[in-house]
Amino acid sequence: MTVIRAVAAAKLNLYLHVLGRREDGYHLLDSLVGFATAHDVVEVESTPYFSLSLHGPNALTLLMEDTDSNLVTRAAKGLAAALGRRPEVTVKLTKNLPLASGIGGGSADAAATLRALCALWDVPPDSPAVLDLAARLGADVPVCLHARTAHFGGTGTDLAPAPALPEECWVVLVNPGVAVPTPAVFQARDGAFSAPARLEMEAADAAELAGLLKDGRRNDLAPAAERLNPVIGQVLAALESTTGCHLARMSGSGATCFGLYTCADRAVAAAALISRARPRWWVQPGALLNDLSGLEVLEGATLL
Ligand code: C5P
Repeated sequence: MTVIRAVAAAKLNLYLHVLGRREDGYHLLDSLVGFATAHDVVEVESTPYFSLSLHGPNALTLLMEDTDSNLVTRAAKGLAAALGRRPEVTVKLTKNLPLASGIGGGSADAAATLRALCALWDVPPDSPAVLDLAARLGADVPVCLHARTAHFGGTGTDLAPAPALPEECWVVLVNPGVAVPTPAVFQARDGAFSAPARLEMEAADAAELAGLLKDGRRNDLAPAAERLNPVIGQVLAALESTTGCHLARMSGSGATCFGLYTCADRAVAAAALISRARPRWWVQPGALLNDLSGLEVLEGATLL
């Protein structure tokens, strides 16, 4: 039986501006999204019934929840319904990324499920039915389905090309173990709305990228997330204090933060230092990616 594997990489909002609020409460955003090497893995295989199996270090919370509410189930059943077929498939999710943590874990899993099932069922992943379903599953699903460095606008659905990120750009991801509900952070946000700040030029290295990101670009959700969860301030301070960290910033609505480094050794040393000081925090060194092809080769995944 053919097993198709797709990777669900952590998405990082390198900056995130809130431009306004729609009548329905959703916010209009402007963000530069890149992907990191930290990832979940989704495998799909045809079976005469639907089933979801959960594995990996962060599967426990999901195991306690109703399977039908899992974004992977909603992606698989939603795609089957859109194509007028039965969801006769078993999906295996290996959950490495922390949940509800601003790096799009659930959205990345849903997007990887769509990519894997499109390959299994021979459907182009950029067909209107798939793109429409992605947008309905969640604000971060379209960019995770795109799986390449991109700017997004609107509520997350309007994707636009962005300059490539530097080839050698190392990151450390740190999550302090608090799950942050996105709606609460949007509600707690105050202050004026921001202007869009799309990146026009390619940065040569991590230091230059950090300079561009510091130049009038922020995560507008960070002050509210920090007020709700003061530990986020400690995470940022821990990253900033490490040697070689050019920029420390929160991703999405938190609580995961990332540091940018020019040098892999410095990123690994920073991660080791933070892990030793805070053994309960989730700390992952890795690299920034412009697309997921390298990761898919590493995981022996079908290139989708
Ligand atoms: O789409 P997703 O499930 O990721 O969004 C979670 C919540 O975050 C929404 O219910 C909404 O409260 C808030 N949100 C928002 N504006 C966006 C995206 C999300 O207000 N563009």
